Amino acid sequence: MAELSGSLFAVAPALSERDGPLYLQLKRWIEEAVESGLVKPGDALPSERDLAARAEVSRVTVRKAVQYLVADGVLVQRHGSGTFVATHTPRVEQSLSQLTSFTEDMARRGMSVHAVWLDRGLYPPSPEETVALGLPSGERVARIARLRLSSETPLAIERASLAASVLPNPEAIESSLYAHLERQGNRPIRAIQRIRAANLGDDDARLLQVPAGAAGLNIERTSYLASGRVIEFTRSIYRGDAYDFVAELRLGDQPPNGPRR
Ligand code: GLP
Repeated sequence: MAELSGSLFAVAPALSERDGPLYLQLKRWIEEAVESGLVKPGDALPSERDLAARAEVSRVTVRKAVQYLVADGVLVQRHGSGTFVATHTPRVEQSLSQLTSFTEDMARRGMSVHAVWLDRGLYPPSPEETVALGLPSGERVARIARLRLSSETPLAIERASLAASVLPNPEAIESSLYAHLERQGNRPIRAIQRIRAANLGDDDARLLQVPAGAAGLNIERTSYLASGRVIEFTRSIYRGDAYDFVAELRLGDQPPNGPRR
C-alpha cells in the first residue's frame, strides 16, 4: 500500500488565510488529489503531524479537514492503522419491478456472493412479526440474519423472519433463502417493498464498513405465495453508496378528455 507522501506531498499545498478557512482549503486539496487519480483508493494518508508540517497549518486544522473527508466518504479511518483513501464500491443498479433474490441479482451481474451469518434460530415472535406473518397464537418464528457481501464488499444486512412451520430448521439454508423456499415449493410470487432513507447506527455501520451516520436505505419486504399467504417478512439495511434503485414508469390511463390540468 503506497503512502501518499511520495506523490501528493512532494509539493506543499499553497494555503492562505486570505482564501477562507484553512481546513476547507486543505480538504479541497486532498479531494482534488483523489479525484484526479494522483492518489489511489487504499493509499495511506501521512500522519496528522506530517501533514500539518508540510501544509504549515496546525494539527487541529488537519484533524478537521480529515474529519470532513471521512464524513464525505473520501477517506476512511481504521482504528490503530491510520487513515486511507476510501475504496469505492461500484454501484449496483437494482430494478424495483422484479421479485428477485440477492443471490440472483448478483449472479446476473457476474458477481460472487458471500454471507456472514449474524443469527439463525427459532424464537417467540415479536408483535410486529406476528402481525406481518399472520402467525397463529403459539407459533414460533424462524429468524435468519446475514451480512451480505459481494466480492468481499459488504452491501447489506438482511434480517428475515418466516413462520417456523415454513422454516422449521433455519440451519438447513445453504446460501440462498429463495433457493431453499423454491425447493419446498414455497417461493414467493409477489412482494410489497417499502424503502426509507436512514442514517446507519454504529453497529450496522461497522458491519457495512462505512462511517457511523453514513447514508443507508431501510428496505422492508413482505412476500406472498400464490395463495395469498405471507411467506417472508424481511428488514434490510443497504449501503446508500452502493445501490441505485431503478423503476420504470409509464403514463397511466388517460381520462376520456385527455390529461387533466
Ligand atoms: C433480497 C430481499 C430479501 C430476500 C433475499 C433472498 O435481498 N431483499 O427480502 O430475503 O433477497 O435472497 P437469497 O435467496 O439470496 O438469500
